[in-house]
Amino acid sequence: MPVPRRARSRLLSVIMRVGLLTGGGDCPGLNAVIRAVVRKGEMEYGDEVIGFLDAWDGVMDRRTMSLDVHSMRGMLPKGGTLLGTRRGSPYERDGGLETVVKTFDDMGLDALIVVGGNGSLTVAHNLHHDLGLPIVGVPKTIDNDVVGTDITFGFNTAVQTATDAIDRLHTTAESHDRVMLVEVMGRDSGWIATHAGIAGGATVILIPEQPFDIDEVCTILRARHQRGRYASIVVVAEGAEPAAGTMPSQEKVYDLVGRVRRRGVADRLAPEIEQRTGFETRVVLLGHIQRGGTPSAYDRVLATRFGLGAIDAVHAGAWGHMTAMRADEVVLVPMSEAAGKTRPVDLALYQNVASVFFG
Ligand code: F6P
Repeated sequence: MPVPRRARSRLLSVIMRVGLLTGGGDCPGLNAVIRAVVRKGEMEYGDEVIGFLDAWDGVMDRRTMSLDVHSMRGMLPKGGTLLGTRRGSPYERDGGLETVVKTFDDMGLDALIVVGGNGSLTVAHNLHHDLGLPIVGVPKTIDNDVVGTDITFGFNTAVQTATDAIDRLHTTAESHDRVMLVEVMGRDSGWIATHAGIAGGATVILIPEQPFDIDEVCTILRARHQRGRYASIVVVAEGAEPAAGTMPSQEKVYDLVGRVRRRGVADRLAPEIEQRTGFETRVVLLGHIQRGGTPSAYDRVLATRFGLGAIDAVHAGAWGHMTAMRADEVVLVPMSEAAGKTRPVDLALYQNVASVFFG
């Protein structure tokens, strides 16, 4: 374990050497954050901004690219991240922490901006807490499940993508008198499902926060059919789970970094619905289509504001804090608020708005 070191106590208005990485799953708006950090960092503070490639791997393996205003041309509307991203952290690699500290020292880094979701922000918080590293966070994720901020960029784009897909599915579902099961992302929270379901006029929305009873779902579908409606759209978040004892449980499958693979709940549901109702049912997995492509105007603005907030936070020496949106203001909150947690969907929205239209 490396010797804990204090964040540099130097005059923060001086020119800085600022590292930046994007971690976890990508999302629309990451390049807009990078662009904003570089723009204000270089033009207003005179900073040098260095991008680490492939998240923490780039920090440990010293793989970097220099970022300047010139290299940001055309980046604002581009999806993905020009720096690349990975899951995993220095805590999972032998000697990872020592390597990170050495990178800071050898490269003369004054600060590191970590743009990430729950996982990356937890790592960023721990590195700041355990080693005293000068780190500032920026929350991102299409899942919108970071605690401490009202919204994350990427979410708005993902909801629009899912809503567009649902709009298209209505006509084919009606033509065939079918049930369409649309599986959207959201491993721990039902934000995308709830918003896209409301916007797309879903018959039922299933979310991780509310275990579902398949018989109740089928009762809703039958009642709708009896009213002469020939199409049903069921929006299901990938992390939605049946209530205990209502459906056979399923063996967990893990991905290469040891996370439970969530994808596939809709495939389990389809035969159960067909068997119980006799209605033909089809499954649409939206998957990574929700993460790809150009950010919406809303996400470009939010990501830009977060990027500017992050470089200002660096110059304010707000180590261990992340940018956050609260009542349409960009504020700084301690990353400890977000570390190790996920923000559940607003149940009032689910119960008092979304479910009014079920059936
Ligand atoms: O970014 C979060 C998320 O969108 C989850 O909803 C989903 O489970 C996960 O990413 C899948 O990401 P990947 O396939 O990149 O591991």
